[in-house]
Amino acid sequence: MKKTIALLPGDGIGPEATRAAAAVLRESAQEFNHQFEFAEYPLGGAAIDAAGTPLPNETLDACRKADAVFLGAVGGPKWDALPVGKRPESGLLDLRKGLGLYVNVRPVKLLEPLRGISPLKADRLGDLDLEIVRELAGGMYFGERGNATEKGIERAWDTESYSTPEIERIATFAYARAENRSRRLCSVDKANVLTSSQLWRRTVAAMGAVYPTVKLEHMYVDNAAMQLTLRPAQFDVVLTSNMFGDILSDAAAALVGSIGLIPSASFGSSAPLFEPIHGSAPSLAGTDSANPIGSILSATMMLRDAFGLSLEADWVEQSLQRVLAGGYRTPDTSSVTFRCHQSDQTSLHLNEPCSLGFATCIRRMGRRLRPNYRLRAFSAAKTRAPVFSPVSRLTAPPLLPLEVCA
Ligand code: IPM
Ligand code: MN
Repeated sequence: MKKTIALLPGDGIGPEATRAAAAVLRESAQEFNHQFEFAEYPLGGAAIDAAGTPLPNETLDACRKADAVFLGAVGGPKWDALPVGKRPESGLLDLRKGLGLYVNVRPVKLLEPLRGISPLKADRLGDLDLEIVRELAGGMYFGERGNATEKGIERAWDTESYSTPEIERIATFAYARAENRSRRLCSVDKANVLTSSQLWRRTVAAMGAVYPTVKLEHMYVDNAAMQLTLRPAQFDVVLTSNMFGDILSDAAAALVGSIGLIPSASFGSSAPLFEPIHGSAPSLAGTDSANPIGSILSATMMLRDAFGLSLEADWVEQSLQRVLAGGYRTPDTSSVTFRCHQSDQTSLHLNEPCSLGFATCIRRMGRRLRPNYRLRAFSAAKTRAPVFSPVSRLTAPPLLPLEVCA
């Protein structure tokens, strides 16, 4: 398979995160005989510095032409004084708009070897495995906004507004996603206060007839925040607006122990976009301690959900599971200095500070899983899941006996 991937490293830890994902994608291309071509373009603060605008035309054009886009992160203190519209974050919002991205999926799944780092007690945590389906193209993020001064008093506003078609298209995606998972859909709104939420609730409820096997529940966003903390395993697919999805996904991420672990995928009318949900973490930039797992899992979403390469995605995830089971940790997921480092091309050592070595570690573990997957690749080649179909997982092969990759 031949694919063109646009890389937008962005700011802060964005470039490190992007390198980790690209390394894993390259490895899987090599392993499964695909041709992935990568090209980098500026976005965010980096683009403001280089081209005077957070989303240069060249970047948007290249993303439109690509088969998929990978984004690191944008933003940082250097550009904090800029007004809304000129900030690095505007580059990301304009990119979402420019690519017509209206779906944002954020899977929050417990990585079993990291169960212990969750801030929740084990009995509350359960088997946490949910997906937040966040509307990405509307709501307050893109509504009418402004500010005015009247009689010396300044006022500013942003408008939350949704149309029926906007709600229907995101709900269609969420219902389909739920159909392919545990068939539970929780639509989160604030319909006891907001008229836009009342339309949201009515629309989502009316669509229930089309998906009779999906059990639909509605929840107010304040309660949803509490339920996520009290009993997150009750959720399967959570459907919500742009703003509520932004807030709830950070809260849900905390439950698995670190926001650095959470990937995301965005879909719309043009190329799909994949990005870890963590920010640019300026204080970590250049310290080689950023967690690449959210990025690596975003790369697996690209393989599975954009290219239909389920086996390749499983292969990367298996490698990741095994590296974690082998005791390797990134600084944010461990209180002990127990990290791995690529000191040269042939060996990995524990207890040396580096988390990018972690991506190397995962690639190497992948090579160890090769024989298992070669066989499966042969039979899977003809049965690839269609591109953009909701997740269809192949069962991963049994784990090989545990050995650490050093
Ligand atoms: C996210 C981020 C962005 C958002 C920012 C950087 C514009 O917080 O993707 O969650 O608010 O959507
Ligand atoms: Mn956010």
